[in-house]
Amino acid sequence: MKEAFRHIHGASPDGIWAAPGRVNLIGEHTDYNDGFALPIAIPQNTLVAARRRDDGRLRLHSAQGDGPVIDLDVADLNPGAVTTWGAYPAGVVWALREAGHEVGGADLHVDSTVPTGAGLSSSAALECAVALAYNDLYGLGLDAPTLARISQRAENGFAGVPCGVMDQMASACCTAGAALHLDIRAGTHEQVPFAPELEGLRLLVVDTRVKHDLGDGAYAALRAGCEQAARLLGVAALRDVSPTDLPSTHRVLPASLVPLVQHIVTENARVAESISHLRAGRVTELGPILSAGHASLRDDFRISCAESDLVVDTALAQGALGARMTGGGFGGSVIVLVDESRAQAVGAAVTAAFRSAGYRDPHLFPVSPASGARRIE
Ligand code: GLA
Repeated sequence: MKEAFRHIHGASPDGIWAAPGRVNLIGEHTDYNDGFALPIAIPQNTLVAARRRDDGRLRLHSAQGDGPVIDLDVADLNPGAVTTWGAYPAGVVWALREAGHEVGGADLHVDSTVPTGAGLSSSAALECAVALAYNDLYGLGLDAPTLARISQRAENGFAGVPCGVMDQMASACCTAGAALHLDIRAGTHEQVPFAPELEGLRLLVVDTRVKHDLGDGAYAALRAGCEQAARLLGVAALRDVSPTDLPSTHRVLPASLVPLVQHIVTENARVAESISHLRAGRVTELGPILSAGHASLRDDFRISCAESDLVVDTALAQGALGARMTGGGFGGSVIVLVDESRAQAVGAAVTAAFRSAGYRDPHLFPVSPASGARRIE
């Protein structure tokens, strides 16, 4: 990393920062409804080697992009000015300045093991690593949730993706051996111990390799649908609808919005239920909740796809405790909770099922809850 930095930027970096991707255990599409979520950080990280510059230039290079250095003037950063991967780091610098922090330029070199387009929050990892690097380079003294909000602002306001804050909170605030209980409206987060391997379990990630892209308008349409439903129901956000209100929502809402509300309300309840099981050490009880969450995303929110459904169905048929798509939807990754004695059989069955369906081989790997963003050098 240091050697590559020196080669590209001609001097040593001031430091190296890391931020992870995430999988969400439960609580999908609840973040922009002021609700609850329960993500973990995965061991795959985005590393950013950085050196402060005092001439106002922001110079970006990525080991993955393999393109030339992107050279920008921080004073000219405006939404739409950068359309490649560079929009994420440039967006963070823009968002810091927009929030009144007097930050200048830097040389950055980025290298990542977080798969892109797999629904594992590679963009949040990049944003959070850059935000933390800037926090240190410019002595800003911001805490992790504030850096997460700055990162979300970069994505919303600069890269043009109307995401919630779950991914950035996970990347910035998770700790090893725990899931992160997010209460979005309250702005609070709490670590909930979660160590599946200590219970003889595995959490597998299956990247379906169906390209997941939040910028394509479908995510924005779902978000708008939820916001419209909240307005029609006369509440600030769908978080305020309780399960007992559900049967009456069809009297107020157009038929197309009823299942969206159904998903959000039941999903918030699934987060609460999952947390009480984890706190009581009943990790296996998570299984049916994950599978119910998948059914809700497939049938009510309608954001699964044939490949994700095939992973879930195959894993459950092979004795997995639970499985569901994770992240924004329309492809990306599935998580599978499985007893370690069944993990290999589940993986083999999923790959075989993909082959017989004529799909590309999925990527499978086990994950344990890992650390959030941190300085590593
Ligand atoms: C994407 C968004 C998040 C969240 C999830 C769905 O990952 O970036 O803010 O809305 O989808 O839970």
